[in-house]
Amino acid sequence: MFAIAEQNLTIREAFLWAEDYLAQHDVPDVKIEAEYLLAHALGCKRAELYLNPHTKIFGVGVNHTSRLSDSNLQIFLDFVERRIKREPSQYIIGEQEFWGLAFRVTPDVLIPRPETELLVEKTIKTVSSKSEVVSGNNNIQLTTHDSRFTILDLCTGSGCIAISLAKEIADCRIYAADISEKALAVARENAERHGVADKIHFLCGNLFEPLLAPESFNRGKGMDVSFDLVVSNPPYISKKMMAGLEPEVKDYEPRAALYGGEDGLDFYRRIISESPAYLSAGGYLILEIGYGQAEKIKRLIELSDTFEDINIIKDFSGIDRVIKAKRKG
Ligand SMILES: C[S@@+](CC[C@H](N)C(=O)[O-])C[C@H]1O[C@@H](n2cnc3c(N)ncnc32)[C@H](O)[C@@H]1O
Repeated sequence: MFAIAEQNLTIREAFLWAEDYLAQHDVPDVKIEAEYLLAHALGCKRAELYLNPHTKIFGVGVNHTSRLSDSNLQIFLDFVERRIKREPSQYIIGEQEFWGLAFRVTPDVLIPRPETELLVEKTIKTVSSKSEVVSGNNNIQLTTHDSRFTILDLCTGSGCIAISLAKEIADCRIYAADISEKALAVARENAERHGVADKIHFLCGNLFEPLLAPESFNRGKGMDVSFDLVVSNPPYISKKMMAGLEPEVKDYEPRAALYGGEDGLDFYRRIISESPAYLSAGGYLILEIGYGQAEKIKRLIELSDTFEDINIIKDFSGIDRVIKAKRKG
């Protein structure tokens, strides 16, 4: 590593060295990882490593004389050093893309996963089916008299779900709750970054509890709105599964964002039993679910006897990923 720091490497040489060094330390997907870290050290996009003549590392016209400046090389070596300790690239870089938007991520929040976009997609579809869509440009606007659609996002973390929904649904009011004040600080920053902070109220506390606090609604008595939708991607890893997680997850992502109790279903039990009190009749509960949990969660919903039209939705890999149920009228 120190020898490398003293070499006058070209950008391409630095990339090839990193790819090899990451592979020696059993980091998965070394090519993508090396590209990602290199691009960030250079302050460019990954695609530019293939397109921009100054940073190009492969293909026709690679400039074999383009060198990394000392400061860029130092940044890159520092990134690679962190990555071989299995710190996720997203924490190193401080960013993850979700729903086409760049989200700031820190070790206080779960890194948004692409699978969770299915929850956003199904929520948007549900909103459009409950309302009249009157505008183009992907923005759903409601023509109903009350006009604003109210959504509760429990366990918001980085705010990726709440913020994506706020971007897509023009006329909505979103409440986004999390038990971690530090996670909420990241979510607020993301909401500002994407220009939707005025549509989202952030609440700190244990699942539905902050809704009962008088200050939550500035009306002196706590919750007196009911939600059209309650959505959540809660912690759902079981005790047994926790032990088998990759080091990137187990050693770096917040345990509070992962662990869902002995069988992974603790949060579902609470959300399913408590959400009917906060959902309007005909409102929807939409939850992300873990591998192999669909039937058990469906059964919990059936047993509550407060929901109908229960649907399990598969992701692109054919895995049951989202469950949706309608509050009985
Ligand atoms: C699986 S992460 C989901 C984060 C984000 N919604 C996403 O999809 O990427 C779960 C989140 O639940 C929060 N959490 C854990 N226990 C909680 C509780 N009792 N009440 C509210 N939030 C909780 C964690 O802080 C974490 O941010």
